Amino acid sequence: MRPFVVAANWKMHKGPSEAVGYLKAFLPHAGSLPGRNKIIFFVPAIDLWVVQQALRDTSIGWGAQNCHYERQGAFTGENSPAVIAELLASYTLVGHSERRTLFGETDEALAKKLRALQDVGIEPMLCVGETLNEREAGGTGDVIRRQLREGLKLRDPVKPFLVAYEPVWAIGTGKVAAPAQADEAHRVLREELERIGGRDLAEKTPILYGGSVKPENSGELAAQSEIDGFLVGGASLQAEAFLALARTEKKK
Ligand code: PGA
Repeated sequence: MRPFVVAANWKMHKGPSEAVGYLKAFLPHAGSLPGRNKIIFFVPAIDLWVVQQALRDTSIGWGAQNCHYERQGAFTGENSPAVIAELLASYTLVGHSERRTLFGETDEALAKKLRALQDVGIEPMLCVGETLNEREAGGTGDVIRRQLREGLKLRDPVKPFLVAYEPVWAIGTGKVAAPAQADEAHRVLREELERIGGRDLAEKTPILYGGSVKPENSGELAAQSEIDGFLVGGASLQAEAFLALARTEKKK
């Protein structure tokens, strides 16, 4: 059975002291979450040190929101996958739509990042999703299949990764994909995973949904058979709201 993964994406919010205060409020409840749930915090890289201090003796995972694909070098302002691994991160986001659209990240660079993370023992979470124009033109399936295939092009065939489906039009907009719509996109991705790496890969890889997930809509989304968790932006910024999502019980 795949885990149910509830991941917080803090984006460019919270410095080290706020991060510690948040985790102090969250941690006392972590022991009572459903056993199938895996919780992950994707935090600003500058918070990773204090976050690992706070979480290192727990079953909660943490990681960065982006990295470079080289381990070191003249790349001013970038973060090395090796250093993220030194901070004991188990996961890192690759290809969030804000990276793709605001920072011009290409499928080619993302494929290198994904491999670089696997090479240092970090599980990448590859984000894919269509824009509103692409959806309205009927291109959703083609876009997300292409992003998945290209992002996985250089992957290590034996190392794990996760996928997050985040329709761009639903991120931070309050517009959530209809549960059946999201489930359909997840099914397309799972079929593509099977084409890429066989049935076993498709069965074991968690596919999370992201885009305006809140405690009010999480139950209906989690009830969809292909949804294996959430990647949560806005609603992860308050410990209480995120805790409510972390408590989601996956029934199927
Ligand atoms: P949102 O962001 O929950 O605020 O829509 C999700 C994300 O960008 O990962």
